[in-house]
Amino acid sequence: MPDLHFTSATASPEERSAVDAVAARAERHLLLPTLHALNDRVGWLSEGALNYVCERLNVPPAEAYGVATFYAMFSTKPRPPQLVHACDDIGCRNAGAEQLIGALETSGAHVLRSPCLGLCNRAPAVLTTNAGPEPGAMQIAPASPDAVRRQHPSGANDTIGGSMIRLLQRVTSGDPESLDDYRSRGGYEALKRAFELGSARVIEEAIASNLLGRGGAAFPAGKKMEAVAAAAGRPHYLVCNADESEPGTFKDRVLMERDPFAVVESMTIAAFAAGCERGFIYVRGEYPLAAQRLRHAIDACRNGGWLGDDVAGTGFSFDVEIRRGAGAYICGEETALFNSIEGKRGEPRSKPPFPVHAGLFGKPTLINNVETLVNLPQIVLHGGAAYAAVGTAGSTGTRLFCLSGNVARPGLYEVPHGTTLGTLLEMAGGVAEGRALQAILLGGAAGSFVGPDALSMPLTFEDARAAGATLGSGVVMAFDDRIDLRDIVRRIARFFREESCGQCVPCRVGTIRQEEALERAGIDRALRNDIARAMRDASICGLGQTAANAIASANGILRVLPTEAVP
Ligand SMILES: Cc1cc2nc3c(=O)[nH]c(=O)nc-3n(C[C@H](O)[C@H](O)[C@H](O)COP(=O)(O)O)c2cc1C
Ligand code: SF4
Ligand code: FES
Repeated sequence: MPDLHFTSATASPEERSAVDAVAARAERHLLLPTLHALNDRVGWLSEGALNYVCERLNVPPAEAYGVATFYAMFSTKPRPPQLVHACDDIGCRNAGAEQLIGALETSGAHVLRSPCLGLCNRAPAVLTTNAGPEPGAMQIAPASPDAVRRQHPSGANDTIGGSMIRLLQRVTSGDPESLDDYRSRGGYEALKRAFELGSARVIEEAIASNLLGRGGAAFPAGKKMEAVAAAAGRPHYLVCNADESEPGTFKDRVLMERDPFAVVESMTIAAFAAGCERGFIYVRGEYPLAAQRLRHAIDACRNGGWLGDDVAGTGFSFDVEIRRGAGAYICGEETALFNSIEGKRGEPRSKPPFPVHAGLFGKPTLINNVETLVNLPQIVLHGGAAYAAVGTAGSTGTRLFCLSGNVARPGLYEVPHGTTLGTLLEMAGGVAEGRALQAILLGGAAGSFVGPDALSMPLTFEDARAAGATLGSGVVMAFDDRIDLRDIVRRIARFFREESCGQCVPCRVGTIRQEEALERAGIDRALRNDIARAMRDASICGLGQTAANAIASANGILRVLPTEAVP
């Protein structure tokens, strides 16, 4: 703990200039961007620099320290400017992550182990960060010691496939840095159509489409839009949740990196419908390319009159700001994300009140996942009924699935809801090397394992629910018969223990006890069930409520718990 009464006298000139560049006004919500600026410039947050931030932003030192220590990408202890964040999570550990980390450490690199970096389709993955006057960050996947030494991104592209390409139509071709190119491919036709229809009709079409949120909770997108539009209090905010940290998920990364203008246009359509004046996109801190492409797209749209005080000459006013996360899975939870933007620790709030009434800065807020939003242009252009004609009645439209693990062609696949799990797996070439399938993790660490008997399951919200599973964030990670599922389950348990924000006891203690239950014998089934039940029923957010799911489901496929604990 630093001396919180200490002054900023020891802040160096470079630390001061990094802070001054961002902390132009004494506003608390600038805390996270200011800490990022310092971290990017110097590589860590010294006492003197933190105190200088507090002076500039008028934030109590204890609170600034609480925020600085909340995020994995920041350090309040000195560390070298060059770091290698190496993924040792479930997808990469089967692609040689441990050997890679060993080799990197032997070569003298400063390695920090990281949870999933959203590059599982190109495992093993690392993110290198270089602090300095010209800071840089690079995703390297697949990574090798040589590629890391040469700072070479490896040139691998994300494999894109599927049986009905709608959301991914511009992802395989086109220039993600050209607004003209985007417009030549139909870009901004949907926003123009939205202006013609008017906000009430856009909401009607969104409701008729029965589009359900793709961020994990499957809430009807049109209904949420309608509630924000009707909410009292101004301003209304639109927040795009681009924190994508669910292990195994990389769909939003691909959309942002390869079709950033579509994300900006879709946000503008949603903002128009719900009457939002200001938008934020909260991009995962480990996604430097996505942030760079979005920043470029936002600037180009502002210059082209598609954002700002008078969007496309219609009198509608809307602008977007990027906020970078800093390495905290829990900040994907909507209310934790609001706190993070506001410059507080990223801890979830109790609900109600719900974001549609009191969200960001206490104002009515429409928050949607990236993939949810990029469905809007086709709904506006072709109508909600046409959208709902694809898929099933309960699960309309197409869906992005992130295929990784032991599949022949890992990548991002778009299929209509209702496609079976087996068909999807076949699209990706089936299990790699013709091995037998042991299990599939569906929906991410917060999801569940299913066995080969689930291959006939149609991929819909309702079929997944009926099978006791979830589509979650679209993760489909396959494990062949050689994989030690116990090791995978242990890594998931560690993930939840490390990512619990610690606010509520059932989650804070339960995630520790759950991990212990996998490590040692002697915890009986009743106690394990008690822990799972306490976490599910008494945790205030989805992290604690779902932390036991994958482990319980794996136990059904393979006896992952010590012998005494097996039912
Ligand atoms: C622990 C936790 C992590 C989450 N992470 C994400 C995330 O990374 N991206 C996301 O869109 N939603 C995430 N969510 C869901 C959000 O809270 C929220 O439901 C979602 O952003 C709403 O958007 P949608 O209606 O478009 O799905 C997470 C929820 C929890 C409980
Ligand atoms: S359930 Fe866990 S992550 Fe969620 S608020 Fe409680 S302690 Fe934090
Ligand atoms: S990038 Fe390693 S598991 Fe996702």
